[in-house]
Amino acid sequence: MHLFSFMLCLSVGALVKCAAGSDWCYTGCEHTPAHWKDIPGTFCGKKRQSPIDIVTSNVKPDQNLLNFTFVNFSSQHVIKSIVNNGHTVKCILAKDESEVSGGGLNGTYSTIQFHLHWGDTEHHPGSEHMVDGHRYPMEMHIVSLKKGVEKPTEDSEGIAVLGFFINATEDGDMSGPWSKLTSYLTNVTGTEVDFNHTISLDDLIGNVNLTKFYRYMGSLTTPNCNEAVVWTVFQEPININKNLIQKFPMETGISNVFRPAQQLYGRQVFASPATPLPPSHSWCYDEHCHYTPSNWPTIPGSHCGGERQSPINIKTEGTVLNKQLKDFTFTKFDEKHAIKYIINTGHAVKCVLKDDMLEVSGGGLGHTYSTLQFHFHWGSTSHDSEGSEHTVDSHRYPMEMHIVNKRKDLSLEEAITTPNGLAVLGFFIKASDGTKSGGESEHHEPSPSKPTSDMDAWKKLTSYLSHIQNISSQADVTEEISIDDLLGNVNRASYYRYNGSLTTPSCNEAVVWTIFKEPVKIDENLMKMFPTHAGYHNVYRQAQSLHNRTIFTTASASGSPCPIMLTLLLACLCVLMINL
Ligand SMILES: *[C@@H]1O[C@H](CO)[C@@H](O)[C@H](O)[C@H]1NC(C)=O
Ligand SMILES: *[C@@H]1O[C@H](CO)[C@@H](O)[C@H](O)[C@H]1NC(C)=O
Ligand SMILES: *[C@@H]1O[C@H](CO)[C@@H](O)[C@H](O)[C@H]1NC(C)=O
Ligand SMILES: *[C@@H]1O[C@H](CO)[C@@H](O)[C@H](O)[C@H]1NC(C)=O
Ligand SMILES: *[C@@H]1O[C@H](CO)[C@@H](O)[C@H](O)[C@H]1NC(C)=O
Ligand SMILES: *[C@@H]1O[C@H](CO)[C@@H](O)[C@H](O)[C@H]1NC(C)=O
Ligand SMILES: *[C@@H]1O[C@H](CO)[C@@H](O)[C@H](O)[C@H]1NC(C)=O
Ligand SMILES: [Zn+2]
Ligand SMILES: [Zn+2]
Repeated sequence: MHLFSFMLCLSVGALVKCAAGSDWCYTGCEHTPAHWKDIPGTFCGKKRQSPIDIVTSNVKPDQNLLNFTFVNFSSQHVIKSIVNNGHTVKCILAKDESEVSGGGLNGTYSTIQFHLHWGDTEHHPGSEHMVDGHRYPMEMHIVSLKKGVEKPTEDSEGIAVLGFFINATEDGDMSGPWSKLTSYLTNVTGTEVDFNHTISLDDLIGNVNLTKFYRYMGSLTTPNCNEAVVWTVFQEPININKNLIQKFPMETGISNVFRPAQQLYGRQVFASPATPLPPSHSWCYDEHCHYTPSNWPTIPGSHCGGERQSPINIKTEGTVLNKQLKDFTFTKFDEKHAIKYIINTGHAVKCVLKDDMLEVSGGGLGHTYSTLQFHFHWGSTSHDSEGSEHTVDSHRYPMEMHIVNKRKDLSLEEAITTPNGLAVLGFFIKASDGTKSGGESEHHEPSPSKPTSDMDAWKKLTSYLSHIQNISSQADVTEEISIDDLLGNVNRASYYRYNGSLTTPSCNEAVVWTIFKEPVKIDENLMKMFPTHAGYHNVYRQAQSLHNRTIFTTASASGSPCPIMLTLLLACLCVLMINL
């Protein structure tokens, strides 16, 4: 059996992965993308992986990314055969006929094949790369190997892939090159079919402007994920009729064949000089940058001058009782492995959560929201530091934690332009009484009030701060830390509610705010670690005008006595039960 497959491999050729072929998948097997790294011999868990989300505000123009030179891309005879290999549809090109060079590539690359990535019949998009969180319906990859390199997969620039986004149009050519290509789609896997039509690579690329592209160093996007790829992702998409796009999942029997975006781990994405980029938004909270807080409204595309801005000062006297503000349902907030990584953004410390794991609903929100990340706002290292964004009757707390959630039925792009697209849960943080410095109280107080949260979790979390002192640096979180641990027994039924915005540029007015009345109490020394390690302080925005907005409040206006009573009651019940 083994000998047989070995010989088959030899005869089909070195570039066809035989043995590994069925070891991985996108869905429905043991080795889904999150587990590709566990397949022996793969590089899928390393730090130069593809695809990525291209965040255009972090892209740097590079004058060396000049025009490409394509050889035989206009030839209508280079596509030799087409195959559904079970993971994608691949077109194999005539050997040593088409080439690509220039475009900042170091050398000439011989083009061997192209293939596609797509979503499903429910119109879910399926490009691999994303741009500012946007996923296109499909992506085409034209693969070329560096000439003169013996083992391209083992050379850090051995493979050049040209990525083209494919966008769906309502109407459009149903008889052109893409319709010829789709006429070959089949659900029969593993059989290479001769390609008899005359279409060229240029015919498929259409009128995409080939001088506008992004460039970064990455990997193959399927196992073994070799880190050997110089990536080119063209900015303009190929526009094709949505009915042709539908044919890929429908007629191949395979859907959602794309790998999720991988972390950058400090890599820089560049762009050719012709690529339009947003002006670099250097904003800050103090006076040491181009866009100081008073200038945030002048940042291009900014909403910071709007009438629904956050944070605000909550005047408790003016709040309106709202009986709809019932309890929240928090899903998986007790999950101890939900944090993917922690990052120093230069404006805050942010913990990014695993995709689609945690959820929030109820609480009068009216929708289910997926939890994306949480981050912190803080003041200084001084003992009486004030750094919360929201204030209550003009009182500013030492810190504020924001748990950011996105409406589950919307993409991020849609959410930030929808009035209730985001729900942010704000928790004030103050020093636990026992840890306040300069007090005799520790010794004389008979029973110092205990911190409300699990101090272990805060110790674990803050232990990462020393690893992310550099701006943009990040660390994988491996310690067991759940959001429940961090919040402890804070009363989550007592809160304020208002319509507001993101508190950092572009200040999108897309946030339903929940501000919990009871603060989380943590050790003061742990709190000080945020400004100490991050190296910047007072990262909060000043209160914004309320304009015509109403701040609603839950019924239990004086929150804290109730849960204590409840705890006592429960304690009594427990004692009773033990005695029974
Ligand atoms: C690159 O190509 C564009 C259009 O194809 C052309 O306008 C431009 O002059 C070219 N630049 C160089 C440096 O050749
Ligand atoms: C382009 O393709 C033709 C055949 O279609 C081939 O004869 C020619 O050598 C190719 N050009 C290069 C530079 O490889
Ligand atoms: C270009 O590639 C050659 C051969 O692969 C290599 O020796 C050289 O260092 C590369 N140059 C740059 C600037 O990367
Ligand atoms: C994608 O296609 C839609 C029409 O379906 C169009 O409105 C949009 O501008 C296109 N996007 C790009 C980037 O061309
Ligand atoms: C493959 O497609 C044919 C029609 O083209 C269909 O009859 C058949 O059921 C499909 N097979 C699978 C496994 O989907
Ligand atoms: C921070 O940056 C400096 C210089 O760029 C580097 O030497 C150091 O290793 C970095 N530290 C961390 C924790 O990444
Ligand atoms: C937020 O705005 C929406 C639409 O204008 C409104 O229906 C809702 O009551 C507002 N919620 C709050 C808390 O003000
Ligand atoms: Zn690909
Ligand atoms: Zn925030």
